Formats: sequence, C-alpha cells, structure tokens
Amino acid sequence: MEVKTTPIATGLLGWLDKRYPLINTWNYHVGEYYAPKNFNLWYLFGSIALLVFVNQLVTGIWLTMNYKPSAAEAFNSIKYIMRDVEWGWLIRYLHSTGASAFFIVIYDARATLWFL
Ligand code: HEM
Repeated sequence: MEVKTTPIATGLLGWLDKRYPLINTWNYHVGEYYAPKNFNLWYLFGSIALLVFVNQLVTGIWLTMNYKPSAAEAFNSIKYIMRDVEWGWLIRYLHSTGASAFFIVIYDARATLWFL
C-alpha cells in the first residue's frame, strides 16, 4: 500500500489523520478501490444477506437460552419468551421476520448475479 504523507485534511480529521492514515486507508480500501464498472445498488443484497444471517445467528442463540425443544414444553417456552423474557418478543420477531427476509435477500442477491 502506497502511503501518502501529504496532509489532506485540517481540524479534528487532520489531527486524527496525522496519527493514523485514516483518509488514505479509506481511499485504498473503499473510495478508490477498483470495482467493475457495472456495479449498482442491487449488488448490495449480498452484503445484506450476510447481515440478515448474522442476525439469525445472534437472535437464534438468544432464543435457545429459553426455548425447550420438546413436544411437552415447546409451546410453554415460547409463551414464556413472548411474555416474560425481557425483550424476548423482539428477539423472537427479529428471528422469525429475519428468516423471511433472508429468503428475499438471498433470491435478490442471486437474481442480481444471474440477470444483471
Ligand atoms: C439461516 C439461519 C436460520 C433461519 C433461516 C432460521 C429460521 C427459523 C424459523 C423460521 C423459526 C420459527 C420462528 C417462529 O415462528 O417462531 C426458528 C425458530 C428457532 N430458531 Fe432459528 N433460524 C436460523 C438460525 C438459527 C440459529 C443459528 C439458532 C440457534 C443457535 C436458531 C434457534 C432457533 C430457536 C431456538 C427457535 C425456536 C424459537 C421460536 O420458534 O421462536 N435458529 N428459526
């Protein structure tokens, strides 16, 4: 990586940039990074799919802390998650809605690669 030493910012950003090459790092990895000319916003769906997947993992692990996977206890443990676990309803809705969102963004990410 070519590190340019000429100061390109002043003020707080300039102060930071002198101590850590923030602007050059940004330009090297993002701002001036070579990318195909035909990139557009549809290509964002790949990253969104990763985000939704991480959401599934995190909320899934939290649900597991209170879910009882047996025919006798599953229903009551879901009621417990929805009513008594703090923010349990939100974690469950994030997980169940995330599951549908995952399919939507995956199909969209695939369609982008195949058809655009
Ligand atoms: C691609 C990843 C995942 C998908 C698409 C997915 C999808 C789903 C769906 C559709 C449900 C039923 C939701 C409902 O109607 O309440 C569910 C429930 C559940 N999932 Fe996942 N899940 C994923 C990952 C995980 C992971 C990684 C864990 C745990 C480590 C997990 C733990 C649970 C638990 C404990 C339940 C039962 C609680 C409930 O039904 O609300 N899930 N999941």
